[in-house]
Amino acid sequence: MVTTSGLGKLYEKTVKERIEAVAGACNLPPGAVAELESSMDPAMAKILDLMVENVIGAFQIPLGVATNFVINGKERLVAMATEEPSVVAAASNAARMARSHGGFVADPVESLMIGQVQLVDVDDAGAAIATIKGNEKRIIDVANEQDPVLVKAGGGARRVDAFKVDTSVGAMVDVHVVIDCLDAMGANAVNTMAEKVAPLLCDITGGRPLLRIISNLAVHRVARARATFDKELLGGSEVVAAVIQAVEFANHDMYRAATHNKGIMNGASAVVRATGNDTRAVEAGAHAYAAWGHPYRPLTRFRVDPAGNLLGEIELPVAVGIVGGATKAHPMAQLCLRIMEIDGAQTLSQVVASVGLAQNVAALRALAAEGIQKGHMKLHARKLGR
Ligand code: MEV
Repeated sequence: MVTTSGLGKLYEKTVKERIEAVAGACNLPPGAVAELESSMDPAMAKILDLMVENVIGAFQIPLGVATNFVINGKERLVAMATEEPSVVAAASNAARMARSHGGFVADPVESLMIGQVQLVDVDDAGAAIATIKGNEKRIIDVANEQDPVLVKAGGGARRVDAFKVDTSVGAMVDVHVVIDCLDAMGANAVNTMAEKVAPLLCDITGGRPLLRIISNLAVHRVARARATFDKELLGGSEVVAAVIQAVEFANHDMYRAATHNKGIMNGASAVVRATGNDTRAVEAGAHAYAAWGHPYRPLTRFRVDPAGNLLGEIELPVAVGIVGGATKAHPMAQLCLRIMEIDGAQTLSQVVASVGLAQNVAALRALAAEGIQKGHMKLHARKLGR
């Protein structure tokens, strides 16, 4: 039993001291202390200690590599960090089915993120919105003053939108500062800019800025990818027809759509995690986008081509970066970018979308044919040494 959770200024202690403090409080056996200590070498301990607070160890997640991917004509090995069995094998298998048809084609993606400023106590929301639009250039200039490095590299605030939001505590104005974050995920730049433009918004509208924060519903940073999956490799026209029926089920049933999209995120998040990006940001964005302007629905669409092959398309916001944050700090994230030969945030988001599509096709095929448990249990048995 934990004697106390009030461990004082744990953050001021060294990693070793912290392990001792936790071991004492939890009465851990010496073996557990050694396990925590050996979970990271001294160099890694230093890095991890700078990344989050109160570090006492490293939690290992398997890093797998998915094979067979061709994306926009380029061969790519895909790094996937996931604890779930079958995911890497399934992605590789679906990528193989797309390979003979040219692989995945992904559209260009701009790194546009939204910084939201919530204005409350606004007398006339319509007039405030007109004033904001009339002062768009001034707002953009103030935002861009905050990040000369981003602006110099060609990024920065691009435009300002404003919307009226009716609530039970009165009308509010939702200001969107749309910012090109280039190769960054952008949360820091966006949050800074949102905070800095808030006083100006207050001056010109008379409203009171309350929340100033990035939106994870990154509708201006949507990655789109498509591929043709070979009919024979899928298991024949009956399987293709069953996949279409399975997708139609998800199109009309939210319980199924949630699981359908979870399967997509099995692949997408594994790549996001392997590159040290924020899985929660991408997942929040994906699920919100699935319900953007319509009832919650699948992030993929399918049809059958004249030769009977399965044509799949995916569309989801992918807010990821290759500079800054854990991506820069974590050596494994850097290595994964290298394995995947990622040259920018755009390429990474195209890979994430393609893997999401592959993962979805693999799950649908298995579900519509032999059922998901067969392959899953085979890999599970391997784990148990059976
Ligand atoms: C399991 O992690 C993911 C699946 O449930 C996805 C799906 O049902 O489409 C197999």
